[in-house]
Amino acid sequence: MFIKNTWYVACTEAELDGLGAQPLGRTICNEKMVFFKGPDGRAVAVEDFCPHRGAPLSLGKVCEGKLVCGYHGLEMGCEGKVVHMPGQRVRGFPANKAYAVAQRYGFVWVWPGDQAQADVAKLPTFEFFDNPDWAYSGGLYHVQADYRLMIDNLMDLTHETYVHASSIGQPEIDETPCKTTLENGQVVLQRHMSGIQAPPFWQMAMSANGLDPQAKVDRWQICRFTPPSHIMIDVGVALAGHGGFHAPPEVKAYSVVVDFITPETETSHWYHWGMARQFKPQDEALTARIREGQGKIFSEDMQMLQLQQANILRWPDRPLLMLNIDSGGVQSRRIIEQLLAQEQTTGVPA
Ligand code: FES
Ligand SMILES: [Fe+2]
Repeated sequence: MFIKNTWYVACTEAELDGLGAQPLGRTICNEKMVFFKGPDGRAVAVEDFCPHRGAPLSLGKVCEGKLVCGYHGLEMGCEGKVVHMPGQRVRGFPANKAYAVAQRYGFVWVWPGDQAQADVAKLPTFEFFDNPDWAYSGGLYHVQADYRLMIDNLMDLTHETYVHASSIGQPEIDETPCKTTLENGQVVLQRHMSGIQAPPFWQMAMSANGLDPQAKVDRWQICRFTPPSHIMIDVGVALAGHGGFHAPPEVKAYSVVVDFITPETETSHWYHWGMARQFKPQDEALTARIREGQGKIFSEDMQMLQLQQANILRWPDRPLLMLNIDSGGVQSRRIIEQLLAQEQTTGVPA
């Protein structure tokens, strides 16, 4: 079960543009959808089902803003109504569910649930998109694991020491306790390390920002979970003794790890990952380098999560432990459960 009366990232605008006349079939929250561009060039989505004989419309082609079924040529309009079929009258044809779709920050967002409740005012806002003071880049992984395993992963960064030993891991993460709090429906987990050596990824970022990579630093990780499944992580290092997270920009390298986690099925999800940074935002070579480094780091997570999911499926009755390091994930899951229960009873999430 998924929270459905909410916005999820479905794909990037670039992904849809890159397909040309091909529509994009994508399952989100167990609903098979097909995305394409309507006559005005805006992204739209309908059920990926042809009312004629049930073929997936995503195998068809987009022609003048209509989706033409690849089996016998039925033409679907952007509101889910059949507009034409060769040699047939289509007036009585059943309509498809059409999904509310919005475009913001280079992403295509979809509202899978009750369409009457879809409201662009409920889209999340972020200061770092469409902002010349920030640079952003990212990518997409299709992960064969329950989306909540990704939330667990991102809300407990002690795994960095082991999974990402060569880039961002370091023993001080394990040795520094973290604090979890609830703030306005957000779960916030933070860890602050003082007077340490920066790990390789952050040494690279320090050099890029004109700082001595060997200097002692204060390092922070502040993970923020917002339902249904967005996680923003403030990460960075500052020269030791300047206030850490609050240090002035010239003595730190600072970024936000951006995670939009969209459930596909109970055991798979779409993971839109990225990094927004405030230092040297015009440096495109640095943006590319960070993207490559981050992509490698997240592929390490993906491998772990997929094998973890396979193990959990193999041993479905084995209880899993909940330790203090798991509190960020546990509290995030609790919020998801509460919203799900509320949506089941009232049809409206909090
Ligand atoms: S199944 Fe789509 S037109 Fe026949
Ligand atoms: Fe990780």
